[in-house]
Amino acid sequence: MEHFIKCGDTLDLIQSVPKNSIDLLVTSPPYWAKRVYNGEGEIGSEKTPEAYVARLADFFDELKPYLKDEANVFINIGDTFFGSGAGAWKKYLDGEGNVTEVQKERKEKFFTTKPLQPKIRQNGKLYQNKQLLLIPSRFAIEMQEHGWLLRDDIIWHKPNRIPASVTDRFNNTYEHVFHFTLKKKYFFDLDAVKVLGQNGKMKNPGDVWSINTQPLNGDHTATFPESLVEQIVKCGSPAGGTVFDPFLGTGTTWVVCERLGRKCIGFEINEGYFNFASQRFREAKGKQ
Ligand SMILES: C[S@@+](CC[C@H](N)C(=O)[O-])C[C@H]1O[C@@H](n2cnc3c(N)ncnc32)[C@H](O)[C@@H]1O
Repeated sequence: MEHFIKCGDTLDLIQSVPKNSIDLLVTSPPYWAKRVYNGEGEIGSEKTPEAYVARLADFFDELKPYLKDEANVFINIGDTFFGSGAGAWKKYLDGEGNVTEVQKERKEKFFTTKPLQPKIRQNGKLYQNKQLLLIPSRFAIEMQEHGWLLRDDIIWHKPNRIPASVTDRFNNTYEHVFHFTLKKKYFFDLDAVKVLGQNGKMKNPGDVWSINTQPLNGDHTATFPESLVEQIVKCGSPAGGTVFDPFLGTGTTWVVCERLGRKCIGFEINEGYFNFASQRFREAKGKQ
């Protein structure tokens, strides 16, 4: 299978892709204020959750012309607690409990994977420490406002999630995977993902998928598991079709496409991750 994998900014590279050519877009964008992948101005570093979801929806709008009319879009996105990580960095908070510049600088300097939240003044409403920001829901609503048709809110349940040290709420063990389409009629191969029911007949697998996280070697910790992508590629694209991941990361979508006989278009801005993905692809291909 011929794939088209490049290192660079997706919004530049997409222009070399033919219009109306993509059957399925499957991806996991950088989450808001969680990690530094590339530095200043990158997606995920916006000053507020509202600015983040607006930018992300604009980003997917730019990719629309390259999708076929009957295309599917599956986007995995995680949530953030306002001020999360603040406990560990308490001494860097100001008198009102806001995250200070000092804290921000320290986090950047040490390239920490701890949450990296911009300084937002607490307002006792949405912005207060410990608040679950509902970023996935805000993003899904923003996409609807941009004209995308939301068909599913799939819960990716992670059975192997390590216990958290929190004592005043439950450990988070799931993320959302939103399924959007452009039109009311679209490609969908339910038979490809049916599971055996108790009555011995094949049935719809439902919208809660229990799939273990899959750690990889290297420093990219936000990878999605191959079986999650496999399920989506099987139902969301025809055999031999074209699958696009605009945030390729460690190349999970690329590896899965090769295995399932789909052409992968994948772009990754970070050279280190791009090289990692290329190496992973070569190794996976060697094993097949
Ligand atoms: C959450 S990770 C994706 C992880 C991926 N699903 C995997 O399994 O490895 C997001 C990735 O998007 C990349 N990225 C961020 N902005 C980008 C852009 N404008 N163009 C291309 N890649 C970008 C980041 O460098 C990061 O590797």
